[in-house]
Amino acid sequence: VTATVENVSVIGTGYLGATHAACMAELGFNVVGVDIDPEKIASLSAGDLPFHEPGLPELIRKHVQSGQLRFTTDLNDVGAWADVHFIAVGTPQVKGGTGADMTYVDAATTTLTQAITKDSLIVGKSTVPVGTAARLADLVQDTKNPGVNVSLAWNPEFLREGFAVEDTITPDRLVVGTTHEDDENVLRQVYAEALGRDTPWISTDYQTAELVKVAANAFLATKISFINAFAEVTETVGGDITTLADAIGHDTRIGRKFLNAGVGFGGGCLPKDIRALQTRVAELGLDHSMRFLDEMDQINLRRRKKAVALAFDLLSQDVIGKKIAVLGITFKPLSDDVRDSPGLDVAARLFNAGADVQVYDPQGSHNAAKRYPRITYTPTLDEAVTGAELVILTTEWDEFKTLTPENLNNKVTTRRIIDARNVLNPTTWETANWTFTQLGRKQPE
Ligand code: UGA
Repeated sequence: VTATVENVSVIGTGYLGATHAACMAELGFNVVGVDIDPEKIASLSAGDLPFHEPGLPELIRKHVQSGQLRFTTDLNDVGAWADVHFIAVGTPQVKGGTGADMTYVDAATTTLTQAITKDSLIVGKSTVPVGTAARLADLVQDTKNPGVNVSLAWNPEFLREGFAVEDTITPDRLVVGTTHEDDENVLRQVYAEALGRDTPWISTDYQTAELVKVAANAFLATKISFINAFAEVTETVGGDITTLADAIGHDTRIGRKFLNAGVGFGGGCLPKDIRALQTRVAELGLDHSMRFLDEMDQINLRRRKKAVALAFDLLSQDVIGKKIAVLGITFKPLSDDVRDSPGLDVAARLFNAGADVQVYDPQGSHNAAKRYPRITYTPTLDEAVTGAELVILTTEWDEFKTLTPENLNNKVTTRRIIDARNVLNPTTWETANWTFTQLGRKQPE
């Protein structure tokens, strides 16, 4: 497809799509975000986000007000209008299985293609099993209206929650899988601003583009589980897991990022992506290739159980009725996302074991309450820790990283804390007569 890009549609206005739509408007395009959920469309049109992402509501409001960005439920609205259509619908883990649920991507592609009456490029952004783009390209050709040129490109997204706007406007790299140079040139127009800053541009085929995305997330998950496996060793033999991570991280071939030991990874991406990748390679008869990812998943899930086991140890194996303050139940700071959250899992396990769990989180309580309505969520940190026999830090929000014993001494009943993210200074707490425990740290005999 050859086109001068002015109008852009984004199909699916969840985390990825809402961010992408706002950022495309910021880059100067006219943008329409499309979603089947009328409530989501209504709130986005009013500049309200159904999730927490720093800077995004402001960006959406700015461009909705200027008229450059709008939202609709009607695909026909964009079929005759947009030069480029981004597909940004979800690919969650299938219920009761480990593969990716492709229902939304397939449905969005089919309905969109049927609505297109203008030569245009469809660009897949969702995280998909390798082979999807080639299949969808055939689907597009079979479904499109006669006389209209529609082609497909694959352009995976690497944004992090909490930094979604920054990562979209100034990405580390751009990966585009195409089958025609013309399609690549359309995307060069879309990303002209980043290209002007010499952002690495990786032009490749569909399969590579799809695999880059899952390989990146699998590598990140592996790095975290790698250090957490060593945490299991230092827990037993002694040693300092953070110093170990710092020391190997100085080797520029390894790098220090994503080597923070703790309660492990969660969220809507890393866990489901490594499972979907294993499932996909198994379908290809390559079960053995990604078997190590099963081990990474297991190491990761063991960390949550270990945090719970430490709580039991500190409370003499009896948690029933005991007040435990859990600080942080989002899967990471700067987010209100509790999907597959290690902190929420720890809180739920202790609650189910009969503990009186008091959760405080700066952003995530409303989402956690939808899943576990019977747990107590407090509006302030003080309320969570007052009367606690044990405090567990499970997400490293800034306000927890800067906690000092003085903040808690007169509120808790007993001075016990598990720092399950390795962000507090052991000496500070031990000097103040706290029983201080971290994941990756050997317990005193
Ligand atoms: C991840 C990737 O980092 C993004 O590049 C990717 O685009 C995104 O998934 C996606 O596929 O959409 P995100 O899920 O926002 O982004 O979260 P991360 O910042 O990667 O953190 C994932 C989890 O790993 C968190 O639970 C975090 O606490 C944990 N983590 C991270 C550690 O336990 N240790 C570390 O050293 C780093």
